[in-house]
Amino acid sequence: MSEIKLKKQTAIVTGANSGIGEGVAIALGEAGANVVVNYVINPDAANDVVQKIKSFGPDAIAIKADVSKEGEVINMFQQAIKQFGTVDILVNNAGLQRDAKFHEMTLAQWQFVIDINLTGQFLCAREAIKEFLRRGIVPERSVACGKIICMSSVHQIIPWAGHANYASSKGGIKMLMQTIAQEYGRQKIRVNSICPGAIKTPINTAAWDTPQAYNNLMELIPYNRIGVPEDIGKLAVFLASDDSDYITGASIFIDGGMTLFEGFATGG
Ligand code: BGC
Repeated sequence: MSEIKLKKQTAIVTGANSGIGEGVAIALGEAGANVVVNYVINPDAANDVVQKIKSFGPDAIAIKADVSKEGEVINMFQQAIKQFGTVDILVNNAGLQRDAKFHEMTLAQWQFVIDINLTGQFLCAREAIKEFLRRGIVPERSVACGKIICMSSVHQIIPWAGHANYASSKGGIKMLMQTIAQEYGRQKIRVNSICPGAIKTPINTAAWDTPQAYNNLMELIPYNRIGVPEDIGKLAVFLASDDSDYITGASIFIDGGMTLFEGFATGG
């Protein structure tokens, strides 16, 4: 990397001990940011991410917090601010799937996904905005007062049978992100979403771990490869840095063309 774009900035990445969150945390660390590696289960994996970030030079700590629990989120921000002085970047990444046919979906399956994926983003964004407003702009670090990146999905626009809870949570994230971006633009807080397609992570193992599944998946992806967490990490660094200073309220799709609706290449 020619320039250390996020030098002296601090990022919280939720769900950073695996998958896309891990890739984003490592990329932000490589770009010079101190990183809070949030996790709920598997502290060893979180500590591995911390060690990797430290090997690039910045500092990192692992903090356990369930993003759907108000007290735990507030506590995580307090710990982060105590350790690093402030928070400049929030990556609202933590998310999961609990798939079921709609007529068989339990209230618990619905609620769990909405709590983690959507309410979790609300709680973390609220604490981040409070801290951004308290601190104000520090020109040596960034021209913006703070940056929030919401991990959404192609399913914020593509309906997804068997995943009504998940797709609804991502549709909700779209309006949450845009509303916060509108509300705090004048305070120089930038809020954007990353909308990944199929990325090779534990959340969608069944979609890529056999040749048959992989071939089926490729029928949905014009660019003909599955994404990797590093693809998302590079975009997160861009959205967190001043290189993207005029971008706010945007949903950036990073999906190998999945949202081009490949079926229409030959049909329609
Ligand atoms: C889901 C994955 C899925 C991808 C593309 C993501 O948001 O979490 O399971 O493979 O969208 O459908």
